[in-house]
Amino acid sequence: MAIEIIGNKEKAIAIIEVKKNGKKEKELVEWILKNHKNVKTILKKVSGREGELRLKDYEILYGKETEVLHKEYGYELKVDVTKVYFSAREAKERQRIANLVKDGETILIMFSGIMPFGIVIAKKVKNVKIYGIELNEVAHKYALENVRINKVAHKVYPILGDVREKAKEFFGKCDRILMPLPFSSKEFFELAVKCLKEKGIIHFYTIGEEPNIFEEGEKFLNEKCKKLKVEFRILSKTKVQMYAPRKWKISLDVEIIKSSNSLKNKYER
Ligand SMILES: C[S@@+](CC[C@H](N)C(=O)[O-])C[C@H]1O[C@@H](n2cnc3c(N)ncnc32)[C@H](O)[C@@H]1O
Repeated sequence: MAIEIIGNKEKAIAIIEVKKNGKKEKELVEWILKNHKNVKTILKKVSGREGELRLKDYEILYGKETEVLHKEYGYELKVDVTKVYFSAREAKERQRIANLVKDGETILIMFSGIMPFGIVIAKKVKNVKIYGIELNEVAHKYALENVRINKVAHKVYPILGDVREKAKEFFGKCDRILMPLPFSSKEFFELAVKCLKEKGIIHFYTIGEEPNIFEEGEKFLNEKCKKLKVEFRILSKTKVQMYAPRKWKISLDVEIIKSSNSLKNKYER
């Protein structure tokens, strides 16, 4: 049984995951309402994340509102949890990334959703340009709204579209790329490398299986970078959160250096 609470002190949504057991479910709803007075809606997950937009299906157990203003670390994110991807559990990972960004960077967030990474970075780093590409129209609308709410419109630019198309505009222009789409990030890795300047950092998210959760991701990077003729160095490896029994969402921070006969000459404008 797991509970995720998204929202603020006045109004929040609780998302629960329960096995098929009506009595436990009723008891849990009562427990949440008694112990979390700010919870106005309770949703039960009835599917895993599905499709390109990474959405789940929910059953409403209590209340009706599914849009909420989520507060964490001094910023706010408006979100309808039934229409877009959002995970409150990844707040720590967002902070970790923002703490790595240096003044003056140009950053591309592939798969930017409602723009949580962009907002966190923009709040921490004064002089930064952040572009985020998102396919889900509803998430894009929330990204625009969240940029406005957090007063970072002068440095965060949400773009609606498919990374396959829109990333081309960034070839050779970025210092840092975030790839928070763990199940499909491998198929976009070459595009990410093309978007980097001569040297840069990719935050590569993927799924790792116990006992060695980083092995498969490292093997992929080894083979892919060799094929693309770029040098790489893994700067750090992070367990982000458990995805399923023995399976983890992980992040590999990778520095890429393009050599003279690499993609740089082939693709940069
Ligand atoms: C795992 S979610 C992460 C969203 C956001 N970065 C966050 O941390 O909350 C991945 C997002 O990528 C979007 N997406 C999937 N395929 C895409 C593509 N080809 N181009 C742009 N966005 C895509 C989905 O709609 C989803 O919002």
